[in-house]
Amino acid sequence: MHIVFLTGAGMSAESGLSTFRDSGGLWEGYDPQKVASIEGWYSDRAMVQEFYNKRRSELAKAEPNQGHKLIAGLEAYFKVTVITQNVDNLHEKAGSTNVIHLHGELTKACNEAKTEVLEIGTRPIFLGEKAADGSDLRPFIVWFGEAVPLIEKAVEIISEADMIVIVGTSMQVYPAAGLIHYRKKDVPTFLIDPNDVVVPDYVQVIKEKASAGMSILINKIR
Ligand code: APR
Repeated sequence: MHIVFLTGAGMSAESGLSTFRDSGGLWEGYDPQKVASIEGWYSDRAMVQEFYNKRRSELAKAEPNQGHKLIAGLEAYFKVTVITQNVDNLHEKAGSTNVIHLHGELTKACNEAKTEVLEIGTRPIFLGEKAADGSDLRPFIVWFGEAVPLIEKAVEIISEADMIVIVGTSMQVYPAAGLIHYRKKDVPTFLIDPNDVVVPDYVQVIKEKASAGMSILINKIR
């Protein structure tokens, strides 16, 4: 059985990382069009670098929560793929070995053409720091206005899934939110989220935070 998880910011909330759209979330303090868009990068690189440098320094202090660990533990029994919108590395830190980061990774930087990618861990990128091709080194993140290169791979994986579990995403950002439409008919599909999320009728909702919701899901699988 191949279980595919689709995760978002709520997955890492219990690890102390802010979500985007909850009250007190990141988009209350920042304008996504300014810090997470290609236009934002062109108009204010300092602000964009500062935003992601802050995210990296928060990530340095964060640890995977029980939810991440329960997902990783399922690899002992099933084929598991995690398709995440998260740019943190907490799924990997928890032990998941098959993680697709649709929106990029905080611990990587790249040139402006996104053809050279380097590991930077949780260190800051300095303003004006250059990539090998002379362009500005930038966060390896998929911003609003940019292509999502891994979406086709994600569609392929979803279309082969025998069970789909959505955890902690408001399902408001496309193309990620559209992935469930590619599922095989009648594949059991769950959503774990403590708040209401608009999803199709066939989705079985577990209205809990990621950790508690994952324990319930595992009991159901048993
Ligand atoms: N456990 C599970 N879910 C939670 C928890 C928790 N402890 N706390 C909050 N949530 C849920 C919220 O109810 C909400 O449905 O997590 C979801 C977070 O939604 P968003 O903040 O919109 O995050 P996400 O869906 O990942 O955003 C998608 O938007 O700005 C972009 O690129 C960014 O990848 C991000 C994308």
